[in-house]
Formats: sequence, C-alpha cells, structure tokens
Amino acid sequence: MKFFIDTANIQHIQEADSMGILDGVTTNPSLIAKEGIKDYKAHYKTICNILGKRPVSAEVIATDTEGMIREGSDLASISENIVVKIPLTKNGIKAIQYFAKQGIKTNCTLCFSATQALLAAKAGAVYISPFIGRLDDISHEGMQLIEQIRTIYDNYDFETQILAASIRHPVHVLQSALVGADVATMPFSVIEQLFHHPLTDIGLEKFLADHKKNSQ
Ligand code: E4P
Repeated sequence: MKFFIDTANIQHIQEADSMGILDGVTTNPSLIAKEGIKDYKAHYKTICNILGKRPVSAEVIATDTEGMIREGSDLASISENIVVKIPLTKNGIKAIQYFAKQGIKTNCTLCFSATQALLAAKAGAVYISPFIGRLDDISHEGMQLIEQIRTIYDNYDFETQILAASIRHPVHVLQSALVGADVATMPFSVIEQLFHHPLTDIGLEKFLADHKKNSQ
C-alpha cells in the first residue's frame, strides 16, 4: 500500500519524505487555507520539487465542468506530477472523462458511496478518494465503503486506484491495508503514530541497559 501525506505543510512533507516511506502528497482547499497560502501555484511547485516524480494532488475550486477543465489544465501545467483533484459531482465526472482523454491524471474526491466510485472509474479517474473518517463521524462504517469499492473494481478489472482518505488514526491505516486499498493518505500526526509501540520502547531500553552493564 502506498503512503501519501495529506497536508500542504512543507515542513511536514519534508520530514515525511526524509523517513523514506512517502509515495505522494494530497492537498485540498481547506489544507491550503490552513497554511495561509495565497500563491498556491508556487506552493504546488515547491511541493512537486520535493516529491520528484511522485504524485501531488491539487484540487480545483470551480464547480462547473468548463471551469474545472480550465483550472485543472492550469494546475496540470505546473508539473508532470500534478494530479488534478476533482469533486465527485456530475460536472466533475464530465471533467474527469475529459482529462482521461487528454492523458491528465485525476483524483476524484469527496466520494461517499460505492456507486459514486463506480462512476469515477468508468470516467477514467486514476484515483478515487473515499472519505472514511467523515463517514465514521456520522456513525457509518467508513471501511465498509473501501471494501465495497475493492470488490466492484476487482469484479470489472478497473484500474482506478482506491485512495483511502480522511484517515484519523493508525487503525484506519491497518484496516485500509487489510481490505486492499491501493493508497492511504494521512496527516503527519498519523504517520508519526505508526512508528510507535510501547513494547519497542521498553525492549530498546532493556537492550541498552543490558549492553551498558555488560560493558562495565
Ligand atoms: C483527501 O484527499 C482529503 O484531503 C482528506 O483526506 C480529508 O480529510 P478530513 O476529513 O480529515 O478533512
């Protein structure tokens, strides 16, 4: 399973990259706003330079198909690794189909049902982003959505990659891997949590103490 970081924070991207486990970046308008970024094109360029050839999702703001196509084409011109992120609406699906024909990669976002995911795959999205945390927030089983999409995509050999999004904690990462999500995008805090286990800390402390005793 690929690991993407879900942030527009350069320091967090650099630090996750230095861990050697980073496969890509996803952003959204809220994450861009959180960092107070105004020159978003320059910011995406900076992220793309850090990532090399790895994918960076940049989201359109327009909600009409023509606007999405205009904005998405502009975003795609920033760098080859830009993946145009488009919301799962009727207009969005039309724009995804347009970009698929142009060979421009898309990430279809704000997916909350398996039938929506089927539409995105048929339109030729490279990634589908089901938001599991936001479904859990309203007492739905977010992970069931990933399972359903996996079954449907496997039934029909769709190549669209399932990008588990809106991840809140390490158990979401574990479950995403178990049900066969292709990618999990997560905040920096969750990436950090994945490294920790109290038995690792206790075990290491004991090994070092025993080594010290033996060297005296
Ligand atoms: C996906 O690409 C989104 O940026 C993201 O995962 C949304 O997460 P949230 O529900 O924590 O805002």
